[in-house]
Amino acid sequence: MDLGNTLAFLVFPYITLTIFTVGHISRYITDRYGWNAKSSEFLEKKSLFLAVTFFHWGMLLVLFGHASGLLIPQRFLDMVGINGETHTFIAHYNGMATGIVAFIGLALLLYRRIALPRIQRTTSHNDFITLGALLVVSATGLYNVMFGHYYMLDTIAPWIRGIVTFTPDPGLMLDVPLSYKIHIISALALLAFSPFSRLVHIWSVPLTYFSRCWIVFRRRALE
Ligand code: HEM
Repeated sequence: MDLGNTLAFLVFPYITLTIFTVGHISRYITDRYGWNAKSSEFLEKKSLFLAVTFFHWGMLLVLFGHASGLLIPQRFLDMVGINGETHTFIAHYNGMATGIVAFIGLALLLYRRIALPRIQRTTSHNDFITLGALLVVSATGLYNVMFGHYYMLDTIAPWIRGIVTFTPDPGLMLDVPLSYKIHIISALALLAFSPFSRLVHIWSVPLTYFSRCWIVFRRRALE
């Protein structure tokens, strides 16, 4: 048994997932008024629009790709005619396209927080850690997609499914390349940090917005 590997891919994931769950519950109970995205639109919206749109569309598609590509067992995909090779091909090009869009958006968001004085003055350490951590996770993910060329359906994919189904097997991670391990560890660390940041807004998707009644701001002048 490799102690470092067990700590990194058995103990650490469950510690981070526990902090993630308990942290969100406690933040929701104790800081409901602080539970939001802390929009900076009223301070500056020209560069925000492009940056935030690129980042969110890219990131949401990246997350969707991770969930569908890693959590669905390959035997189910085989049943619908998607074999391991096709799966890897789709994951590679889909990950590259969506990852690049998210990364550009993220770089613009960070630039905006450093370069625009009024945005910089209202940016906290927590905001910088959030954007910096997202940048590390995105950059290592993009590096793996572009240069990794590692077949993960027999190692990383069953390992993550083992974690979420409470049947962990850290041995699957022993021979995974270092750059993939850094990506996974940094993503887990970000998960543990997220309940204490503005990232809590992810869990408050305003779905009712699409079905709510019109809000009348001004009456039409009566004729
Ligand atoms: C459907 C889900 C989501 C919605 C509705 C949403 C909505 C928003 C809104 C309204 C803002 C404020 C933008 C502004 O300043 O006006 C924001 C900012 C932000 N969101 Fe999201 N978001 C979602 C998902 C995500 C995800 C999945 C992530 C990351 C994994 C994320 C990360 C961020 C970050 C880092 C900011 C701050 C950007 C900055 O001002 O520097 N969001 N989001």
